[in-house]
Formats: sequence, C-alpha cells, structure tokens
Amino acid sequence: MTGPNASARRRGGGGFLRWVELAEADADLSGYPFTLPVVEGLRAAGRLELDPAVTFLVGDNGTGKSTLIEAVAVASGFNPEGGSANFRFSTRATESPLGGYLRLVRGVGKPRTGFFLRAESFYNVATEIDRLGVGNSYGGRSLHERSHGESFLDLATHRFGSRGLYLLDEPEAALSVHGCLAMLTRIRDLAETGSQFVVATHSPILLAVPHARILQIDVTGTISEVSYDEAQPVVLTRSFLADPQRYLHYLFGDDR
Ligand SMILES: Nc1ncnc2c1ncn2[C@@H]1O[C@H](COP(=O)(O)OP(=O)(O)OP(=O)(O)O)[C@@H](O)[C@H]1O
Ligand SMILES: [Mg+2]
Repeated sequence: MTGPNASARRRGGGGFLRWVELAEADADLSGYPFTLPVVEGLRAAGRLELDPAVTFLVGDNGTGKSTLIEAVAVASGFNPEGGSANFRFSTRATESPLGGYLRLVRGVGKPRTGFFLRAESFYNVATEIDRLGVGNSYGGRSLHERSHGESFLDLATHRFGSRGLYLLDEPEAALSVHGCLAMLTRIRDLAETGSQFVVATHSPILLAVPHARILQIDVTGTISEVSYDEAQPVVLTRSFLADPQRYLHYLFGDDR
C-alpha cells in the first residue's frame, strides 16, 4: 500500500459517533429504503465502525451513500435537509425513514457544534441562514452572493470549527481542484483539533485526507474498508488519466 493512508492511523478527531447499526424493528420494512442492497449490507456487516476523525463513504451512483448519511444525520438530530442541528426548515420532506431505524453508538464526548451539508439542498440552507440573520458565522456575506464553490469554502472556513461533528454529502460537488485541496486541508486541520467527519464523496482528492477510514459500498451492498489505493474513485481516475485515449476508444468505438 503506497497511498496517503499507509502510515499507522493516528488517533484524533472527536469520536462522537463510534458506530452505526440497524435497530431491530417490528415495523414493516418493505420498500425503499429497506430494500436497498446497502441496508442489507449494513445488516450483514452488523455495524458500521466510524473513524474517530474522518470516515469516507464511496461507491458508484445509486449505491446508497446519501440515504445512509442522511439517516445518520437524522439519527444524530440534524434537519434532514441540512444545516446546523437547530435548523428546522423544510421545503420538501423527501427523507427516507431509515434514520428512525438506526442505532448510533456515541462516544463519551459531545460535539461542541456540527453541520450536515448536502450539496443538493445547500441553496435552501443559504436561504435559512439569511432568514435567521446568522450570516456572520458564515463569513459575513450572504451565501447567495457567493459562487457555489465559494459558499462551500466559506462554510468550511468560517462556520466549521474544532470539536464539531460534520456530515458531508459530496462537499466536492461545487469545488474546483484547488477548492478540493482547500477542503482537504480544512478537513485535516479540523480533524486534528477534535472534529469528526463522515463524508460521502466521489473525489479522489478529498479521499487523500491522511489516516481516514474509507468504506466502499459495492453494487451488491457489501460494505468494505479499503485503502486509498484500492478506493474506486482513485483506481478509476488514475486509470483514466494514465490513458484517456484508451477510454475514449472503448466508449466511442471506432467511429470517432
Ligand atoms: N425517495 C426515494 N424513493 C425510492 N428510491 C429512492 C429514493 N431516493 C433514492 N432512491 C434510490 O435509492 C438508491 C440510493 O440512492 P442514494 O441517493 O442514496 O445513492 P448515492 O449512493 O448517494 O448516489 P450518488 O452517488 O448518485 O449520489 C438509488 O437507486 C435511488 O434511485
Ligand atoms: Mg448521493
């Protein structure tokens, strides 16, 4: 193993959430989300052990990362549409009921602060921040007056702090490569000052946060811990960049 996770994992972070497991329930668990392979994968795994500092969830589109991270957020007391723990706005109730069936096993410490970032509904979070008049905690300017990527970086720079619990769903969605490097640095710095992150991502850059635990969900729902070098976004991006023409030839056939 030669990637950034190669050295012994350093203890750090907040360790606020130790693991996640499915609670035994008598309720009818048919239909979405209970039929998703990842829910069966979670049941088969028994528990999802979270790193005290940084855990990444990776897997192809539709493998259930957002469903899982939203359920962890709801079970942790966050608004399903995102934001701080005290945000209670709702524009459209689309959350799955999985959060009600998760058992979170917590560590001894309590987070001082926290945030649930979902890229897809961040616009509504920015509106709520303006409505509450709490923009000073986010860099002092309305996030609606910042670019998509700038608003994510404002959030991480000004609102995130030490000893926080941060659940992030694709924080790279708005970010350039430079932006991803800035986010990586911020996650590393906050982890070293007692914060805990659980991050769903497709970004091979973010995955390079040192000592992070990477949990990979495959199409059958199986959840495995993998090294940086084994993580699918890293493997596929490396392979593509090593020879883009080979991929284009395969994708387009001979009629280019
Ligand atoms: N409200 C819903 N009702 C039924 N199925 C849903 C619902 N929301 C999501 N799904 C399905 O659940 C599966 C997992 O979706 P999810 O959004 O968790 O995937 P993901 O791993 O986050 O994917 P991506 O990488 O594209 O963000 C998908 O097949 C999706 O179509
Ligand atoms: Mg998703």
